[in-house]
Amino acid sequence: MDEIVALAKRRGFIFQSSEIYGGIAGFWDYGPLGAVLKRNVKNAWWRDTVELRDDVVAFDSSIVMHPSGWEASGHVAAFHDVMVDCKTCKHRFRYDHLEDRTHCPDCGSSRSFTEPRNFNLMLKTAIGPMEDTSALAYLRPETAQGIFVNFKNLYHTARTRPPFGIAQIGKSFRNEITPGNFTYRSREFEQAELEYFVPDDGKDMEAFAAWVERRKAWYAAYGIRSERLRFYELRPEERPHYAKAGVDVEYAFPWGWGELESIAHRGTYDLEAHMRLSGKDLRFFDEATKKHETPLLIESSAGVDRTALTFLVDAYERERSVDPNGKQTERIVLRFHPSIAPVQAAVFSLARNKPELVERATAIEQGLRPHLRTQYDEGNIGQLYRRQDEVGTPFCVTVDYETLDDATVTVRERDSMRQERVAADGLQRYLEERT
Ligand code: GAP
Repeated sequence: MDEIVALAKRRGFIFQSSEIYGGIAGFWDYGPLGAVLKRNVKNAWWRDTVELRDDVVAFDSSIVMHPSGWEASGHVAAFHDVMVDCKTCKHRFRYDHLEDRTHCPDCGSSRSFTEPRNFNLMLKTAIGPMEDTSALAYLRPETAQGIFVNFKNLYHTARTRPPFGIAQIGKSFRNEITPGNFTYRSREFEQAELEYFVPDDGKDMEAFAAWVERRKAWYAAYGIRSERLRFYELRPEERPHYAKAGVDVEYAFPWGWGELESIAHRGTYDLEAHMRLSGKDLRFFDEATKKHETPLLIESSAGVDRTALTFLVDAYERERSVDPNGKQTERIVLRFHPSIAPVQAAVFSLARNKPELVERATAIEQGLRPHLRTQYDEGNIGQLYRRQDEVGTPFCVTVDYETLDDATVTVRERDSMRQERVAADGLQRYLEERT
């Protein structure tokens, strides 16, 4: 993990937020490559969950909602972790994370913990010029509630009725007691959430199973190693009382299994909670029963940052091999799927100081740019390959002296390191077919 964190910083994927001021725990900034990686993850999710479905609509709600929404949802009363403080070193711990509850893991003091107490995870803010309690508001700890409170608006304007889904991607905030494991547990993060509403017609478990399968297929399509991914079916005692089924998608991180996504059958719980407190009717007219009914809810809630981290961890490899001269070599390579890779094709000029080569290579790169995510570079070819391997670029294209004679370029594939001469005028098609 330390190697991956170092690579992420060195190559511009992820930086500690506010680093020049010593950092701020639980907050992260995405550099030039990380920002593209994260966008690619979101695009891949959006494509499969919204664009390819004729029964899912897009949505984007505000981060700050009316505080009553969080009362109705149960977050004000119950969205907390249990914490303890060490009275000696003053460090705070999540009670359920402590392996040994008699000694402080930081300073080693024995029996120094305070009594366990609840700590609400919602970040608070104040709205307007008066910082009294009437102005209290929360930064949303999940995007889902924005969908529930808008259910009526969305149901009417989407011109559809259950079964149909509403999807959104956006920032969420949780005042985690112990942020950690790089971006895995952050205080500010993004979620990609799908809320799929179905009528209570006996086919709800089918809909639940279909979403689990769709999400399985998504992770497989983008090449996440199947042996590091599991779909853990929650037992009844592990689920909230109102949930009829639950599957956690988990990845084998270097520190152990960690949750990427939770898929849950939440019944009528959320809409009924908002109907009770708001007094507004959030039911739909069911043509089958000729009655107003509360739909059942299937939710798939994925963490964007955790998924981006998963792609990074899963792609990372320190590969040792023997070169043609019998010498041991080592390279670091990120084996990103071409849709996820921040750069899809890098174009090099073999020499920096040869204007004909530089001109030709930049023209090729500019020609590819509308079709692929490209980057131009020049210099020592070994170093250029090493850099692109480390950022996971699937193809490198080199313009050399031969190019000037016969209009061909060398294309080098990241994983096999195989090189092939390709006609420059067929290059775009060649790369598009392979990315
Ligand atoms: N609406 C349901 C919901 O929010 P959740 O299991 O609490 O469910 C869903 O969160 C996903 O959001 C998690 O599986 C995880 O990927 C992401 N997530 C939750 N807390 C996070 C944190 N502190 N840092 C990064 N991602 C987090």
